[in-house]
Amino acid sequence: MTSPLISLFTGLGSRRVVETVTPERTLADVVLPPQTRRTLEQALAEVRNQTLIFHRWGLGERHASGLGLAFNFAGPPGTGKTICAEAVAHALGMKLLVVDYAEAESMWVGETPKNIVATFRAAVEQNAVLFFDEADAIASRRSAGAILPHDRESNLTVNVLLRELEAFNGIVIFATNLAANLDPAFERRIRTHVLFQMPGGEERARIWQLQIHPKKTPLAPDVDFRRLAERYAVSGGDIKNAVIKAAAAAAAEPGSDLGKRISQRHFESAMEEVLSAKEIMQQSLFTERGVGADDPVIVWRKVEARWRTAMLVALGLAGTAFVAALVALALVLLR
Ligand SMILES: Nc1ncnc2c1ncn2[C@@H]1O[C@H](COP(=O)(O)OP(=O)(O)OP(=O)(O)O)[C@@H](O)[C@H]1O
Ligand SMILES: [Mg+2]
Repeated sequence: MTSPLISLFTGLGSRRVVETVTPERTLADVVLPPQTRRTLEQALAEVRNQTLIFHRWGLGERHASGLGLAFNFAGPPGTGKTICAEAVAHALGMKLLVVDYAEAESMWVGETPKNIVATFRAAVEQNAVLFFDEADAIASRRSAGAILPHDRESNLTVNVLLRELEAFNGIVIFATNLAANLDPAFERRIRTHVLFQMPGGEERARIWQLQIHPKKTPLAPDVDFRRLAERYAVSGGDIKNAVIKAAAAAAAEPGSDLGKRISQRHFESAMEEVLSAKEIMQQSLFTERGVGADDPVIVWRKVEARWRTAMLVALGLAGTAFVAALVALALVLLR
């Protein structure tokens, strides 16, 4: 039988929203603050025991539901959540089934619940760790009113997800930037929240070092990663982008390839570029005419909010008038 997921893997244009990855990166490729690493290692130990008990000891065949393990990797962008999901799958010798959730939801309009079910089934078939990347979108949208069709589908999606999660015996990892957005119903089903913090100076210096090839990347003698780490308090993702930009700038300089070197000034100006690109993004995200300004849901919510304010003001005025009328009536009666 053809898996319903085949259409998800292949039929939606060039960008894949569901993808099976054979993990290559390991925990040795990640630099984490000590607390984050400890929580991650505890999570991994739990998973290993779970595998032992339910697979090797056969308890999974005896009990039908509630045996899965769900984790939430929460933290700011570029702090290593995706890389760690890959590393966890690697450590367990499993594949990683990645669902780019934000992308998937917009592509699956009208079909999200059905595709969620198919995704869980695919994870079982492939014995893969299921990874919902950019998962904020799942949890933040369940609303009691459910006025718009979009809201109704989101509510249904969350319900289906919760049901699948309950029945799933494997490992699910959610990655979110805003842990506070998570629906409380998810909260109960998630075993461990791993908080990915921004790296400190020491970690940043090691991340800079990790982003280059220890033998092949040609560095000029003036390169000082520690200084870069002290000067720029940024995420690992920003460091990665700056390293690639710096290498591109060094490679574009005239002269023979053999003589080319990445020097400190390349890294510094690349990082300045990364920082100013981020500033531009922030502005367009938060100005009135920024991203999402034309989204009908956002427009609707703004209109709704304005009406709500107008109603409250009208009610306030009516209440004041009523009280004034009562006072006047009382005065008349007292005379
Ligand atoms: N803690 C880290 N240690 C080593 N490299 C890191 C770390 N954090 C980020 N990086 C580098 O930055 C890249 C992007 O990180 P990653 O995609 O894992 O971040 P993320 O937390 O998933 O971000 P987002 O929330 O934007 O999805 C990684 O591929 C890696 O090269
Ligand atoms: Mg990510």
